[in-house]
Amino acid sequence: MSIVIKTPEEIEKMRVAGRLAAEVLDFITPHVKPGVTTAELDRLCHDYMVDAQGCIPAPLHYAPPGYKPYPKSICASVNHQVCHGVPGDKALKKGDIVNLDITVIKDGWHGDTSRMFIVGADAAILARRLCAVTYECLWRGIAQVRPGACLGDVGYAIQRHAEASGFSVVREFCGHGIGRHFHEEPQVLHYGNRGSGPALRPGMIFTIEPMINAGKAAISELPDGWTIVTRDRSLSAQWEHTVLVTDTGVEVLTLSAGAPPPPDIRD
Ligand code: MF3
Ligand code: CO
Ligand code: CO
Repeated sequence: MSIVIKTPEEIEKMRVAGRLAAEVLDFITPHVKPGVTTAELDRLCHDYMVDAQGCIPAPLHYAPPGYKPYPKSICASVNHQVCHGVPGDKALKKGDIVNLDITVIKDGWHGDTSRMFIVGADAAILARRLCAVTYECLWRGIAQVRPGACLGDVGYAIQRHAEASGFSVVREFCGHGIGRHFHEEPQVLHYGNRGSGPALRPGMIFTIEPMINAGKAAISELPDGWTIVTRDRSLSAQWEHTVLVTDTGVEVLTLSAGAPPPPDIRD
């Protein structure tokens, strides 16, 4: 397997899938409130994807090698959960931070994006800062993307900002090429060295999805076989976009009316 370069027709399908994934996050935003369970959020998103958008929720029954089939239609990772949180019957409470990760399949093409939500608006200062810094990490990574740059430039920019802010980068999970398949080459590490890794070429499409911990980088997997938590139970945040390498730079495919604006990332 190698990195697939998408044709203009394929890129147009990826634009549609990316926008639809982002619109699921727009749709669910008003429902992320104290008292709602992540299983309820999963059900609402599932029905929206299937009934309103005519999409397939990519996570449902997804079973990469070594994993049992994923049981739900979205991932919902709360507080010290890093990623792949399986929605369940626990209610969100004021001050929780939660990542909702949406992947749709439209016409055979995947769009993958996630955002952080602060439940009930007032969270501790550390939680808010972690969410903000992680969002800056995502966009600092995106800012590196253009033909001739390489994936190591993306990872370096993310790691530098996370660690300069006193946080750590999860190593075990990375961004990924995406298209007809949920997870394709290349692996997009969120750490690394400038000038290393595959060169970027127009027509490549991949995700950038840094997972940043307030404490140490180490993670553990819960007995459900999916949910990843920080080993030290410190808070973790993640934001994700799907991006296209264009002839001149980058196009973010997972934008929508409700997507938060890019942050100020000047040094
Ligand atoms: N959406 C996740 C990603 O960004 C993958 C989730 S796999 C699942 O790559 F099975 F847990 F849904
Ligand atoms: Co992804
Ligand atoms: Co995702």
